[in-house]
Amino acid sequence: MTDECSQAQLPDQYEHVARDVMRYCAPKDGVWVDLGSGSGPLALALARMTKSVLVLVDPNREALSRALVEAAKSGLEDRFVAVVGTAEDIPLADTSVDLVVSRGSVFFWKDRPAGLREVRRILRPGGKAMVGGGLGSTYPLWARQEFIRRRHESVRKQGPDAMRAFREARSPDTFTRWAKEAGLTDFEVRGDGGVPADDPRAGLGVWLLFGREG
Ligand SMILES: C[S@@+](CC[C@H](N)C(=O)[O-])C[C@H]1O[C@@H](n2cnc3c(N)ncnc32)[C@H](O)[C@@H]1O
Repeated sequence: MTDECSQAQLPDQYEHVARDVMRYCAPKDGVWVDLGSGSGPLALALARMTKSVLVLVDPNREALSRALVEAAKSGLEDRFVAVVGTAEDIPLADTSVDLVVSRGSVFFWKDRPAGLREVRRILRPGGKAMVGGGLGSTYPLWARQEFIRRRHESVRKQGPDAMRAFREARSPDTFTRWAKEAGLTDFEVRGDGGVPADDPRAGLGVWLLFGREG
C-alpha cells in the first residue's frame, strides 16, 4: 500500500486529480467525502477549490490524524472532519453528502459492490460520486509514465499472478461489473486502467462516475 501512496520524487498529482473531480462531477458546495482518504492529500487539494466541508473516511486512524494536522497547517481545520470507517459500512447518514471521491482505495475494499451501494446511499439527490484511481488527466505525461513504470515494476516483483490481478482490478470491464453488481443503472466508466507504462494513456487510470438523481 505504501508504494501506491508515496511517490515523493514525482510532481504532486493530487491537484490534477482534484481538477478532474471538479470537471467530471461539477459538484455542488456542501458536504464532500474523501473515502479511503489516507492522510488526505486529495481532500486537501479539493478544499482549496471549494468552501465545502470535507469528511475523510478511512479505517486507518493514524492516517486520519495526519490529515487533520495537515489541514490545520493550511488553516483548513474548520472544514475538515475525520471519521473512522470502511467503504462497506460508511458511518454517515443516508442522503447526507453532495460528493464522494475515492482515489486509490477501491482496490483495497473487501466487497466493492457493497462499498458502491454505501456510496450511493449517502449521496443526497443531485449528489455525485467518482471512485477509482489515476493521476489526473493534466498530470505531465512523463511523470504519469514514470509513476506507472515504478508501480508495474514493484507489482511484477510479486509474480505473474500479482500482475494479472493488478491489471484486472484496474480494467474498465471490472469497474463495469462492480457497478452492475452494486445495482447501479446510470453510471459511466472513464479511462483505460492498467495499460503498459509506455502507452500514452498510462496513469489516466480508471474511474467510475455516478450520481443520485436530483
Ligand atoms: C493507496 S491508499 C490511497 C490514499 C489516498 N486516497 C490517496 O489517494 O493517496 C488506500 C487507502 O484505502 C484505505 N482502505 C483500505 N481498506 C479500505 C476500506 N475497506 N474502505 C475504505 N478505505 C480503505 C487505506 O487505509 C488507505 O488509506
